[in-house]
Amino acid sequence: MSAIRLPAVVNVTDWVAVNRDQFLPPVCNKMLHTDGQLKLFYVGGPNQRKDYHIEEGEELFYMERGDMELKMLIGNRFVSQPILQGQLFLLPGNLFHSPQRAADTIGWVIERERLASEIDGLRYFLETADGTPTLRPLFERYVHMRDLGSQVAEIIAEYRRSEEFRTGQPTKSASDNADTAAVAYKPELRPLPPVTLADWLDKHQQELDNAEVKNGSSSLEVFPSQCGYQFLVEVVGRSDGRQEFVEYNCETWLLQLVGECSVTFYVEKGQTATARRLGEKDSLLVPAGVAFGVVQSAGCRLLKASQDPGRKGY
Ligand SMILES: [Fe+2]
Repeated sequence: MSAIRLPAVVNVTDWVAVNRDQFLPPVCNKMLHTDGQLKLFYVGGPNQRKDYHIEEGEELFYMERGDMELKMLIGNRFVSQPILQGQLFLLPGNLFHSPQRAADTIGWVIERERLASEIDGLRYFLETADGTPTLRPLFERYVHMRDLGSQVAEIIAEYRRSEEFRTGQPTKSASDNADTAAVAYKPELRPLPPVTLADWLDKHQQELDNAEVKNGSSSLEVFPSQCGYQFLVEVVGRSDGRQEFVEYNCETWLLQLVGECSVTFYVEKGQTATARRLGEKDSLLVPAGVAFGVVQSAGCRLLKASQDPGRKGY
C-alpha cells in the first residue's frame, strides 16, 4: 500500500478564535492553507484599499461575519458588488478587483497556486480630483505570485514610496514592468450574482437528501460547471460512501456546514485507507489525486471546493 499523508481536521471556529488578533489591522488576514495548490485565508478588517488585483485564477469569497464590498472593473465600468454575511461569490479570473472590508467582519477567500507561466497584476487607477477612478493606470506592477501575503505588501509599499503616489499623476515608469506575458483583462466577463448559502441549501433540500441521484451520493454544484469555471464548488448531502470523489490535479477543501460526516480515503480503488470524522465547522484539505468517499445522513451538508487550472473555460 503506497503511503499518503492524510490531512488533519481543523475546526475553523476554534482556529479563528485562536488567531483573532491576526484579523485586525495591520495584518487583517491569516492563511489556513498555504503550502499546497489550494490557498485558503481568512480575512478581517477594516481594510479599504485602492489597489486592484488581477490574476488568471478565480477567487471564491465567503462572508462569515458581516458584509464586504468587492469593487470590480466589469465591461470597463467600475462596479461595487456587496457580498453579504452568509453569501458565496465566485470571481472569474482576468478581472480587476479590489476587496473593501469593514471592522469586525470575517470572511474567507480561496485562490490557487499560480502556474509557472502566470503573472499577477496589481494596479492603481488614476483618479479625478473628486476621487473617481478613471481607466488610466496610475501605477502597476506584475509579478509571478508565490507568496500572497508578502508580495502584495511589497508592491503596496513600493507604491507608497513612489512619485505617482506623491503626485497622483502617472510617470513614464508607472507601468515599466508591464510584461507582455502578463494576465489580460477581459472586459466581456460577467460574474454570477452572489449565492446566499442558507437559501440555496433550503431550495435544494430534497435533491440533496435523495441519495439515489448519483450512485449513492447526492452532490450538487453551487455554480454550474457549464459556466466554464475552474472552480468546482459542490454541496454533498445524504451519502452512503459508494461514490468516490477525486481531483487529480488539485487539492479539495471540505467544510462541514451542517451535522457530521465521515470521510474515507482510498489508496487504491476499493481499498480503505482510513477515515476522518467531521463535525460542524470542521475542515479538511484532501491532497490531489486521493480518492475519498463521504458517509453522512439526510440533513447533513458538506461543502466541497477545488480549483483546477486545467478547467479554464473562458
Ligand atoms: Fe485578488
